[in-house]
Amino acid sequence: MLSGKRIIAPDGARMVSTKLEQGERMAKHNNGRMDTCAVPGQGLDGARFREAMSRVAAAVHIITTGGPAGLGGITATSVASISAEPPMMLFCINKTSPSAARVIENGIFCINTLTPSHEALANIFAGRTGHHLEGRFASGEWIKLVTGAPVLKSAAAVFDCRLAEVKEVMTHLVMIGAVEAVDYGRQGSGLTYAHRKYGIL
Ligand SMILES: Cc1cc2nc3c(=O)[nH]c(=O)nc-3n(C[C@H](O)[C@H](O)[C@H](O)COP(=O)(O)O)c2cc1C
Repeated sequence: MLSGKRIIAPDGARMVSTKLEQGERMAKHNNGRMDTCAVPGQGLDGARFREAMSRVAAAVHIITTGGPAGLGGITATSVASISAEPPMMLFCINKTSPSAARVIENGIFCINTLTPSHEALANIFAGRTGHHLEGRFASGEWIKLVTGAPVLKSAAAVFDCRLAEVKEVMTHLVMIGAVEAVDYGRQGSGLTYAHRKYGIL
């Protein structure tokens, strides 16, 4: 059975910790239909999971935050839209990322969807160049829309969000935001990530 408990409420956002109870199989949450999926350490090899995920082509984004807690940002593929009315989106971030605490404290984030011209920037925000937090914003042209989170001017699309809810799931936090503004450029190619390489779609 899923157990949910509220742990903090940053600036009006709801934070819910949802954890599988020890030894419990996810099958129980889906009338027994997910019987191949167990909690970590109970049968599915993490390396095989990563190998399978490497086949899943995904759009590449930079998630940014700014405000009293300071600037932060990471490269992320774990982005999804949840609903159109009202417009809500989510991304997942490792709890150990210093940007996670900043998103929660600032209460805002922007999802910047990248084009093939942003590969170098994607590497910077993936921590591959040794730049951290504020230092990652030295490259690229950054503006603000409604919330004040940094918006990459040349992005294919941007989704300016106010943090609505945070869910703790194992090693990651699922950040759910209400989209307060969007912007987009002309239609063109997007930057993708699959087989551990960047690509173009
Ligand atoms: C293509 C790509 C996608 C990534 N997607 C995510 C993601 O969805 N969530 C996440 O927490 N980290 C993701 N990462 C890793 C983070 O970008 C990286 O761990 C982070 O920027 C490291 O910096 P930090 O120590 O400041 O958090 C991704 C990296 C790459 C290259």
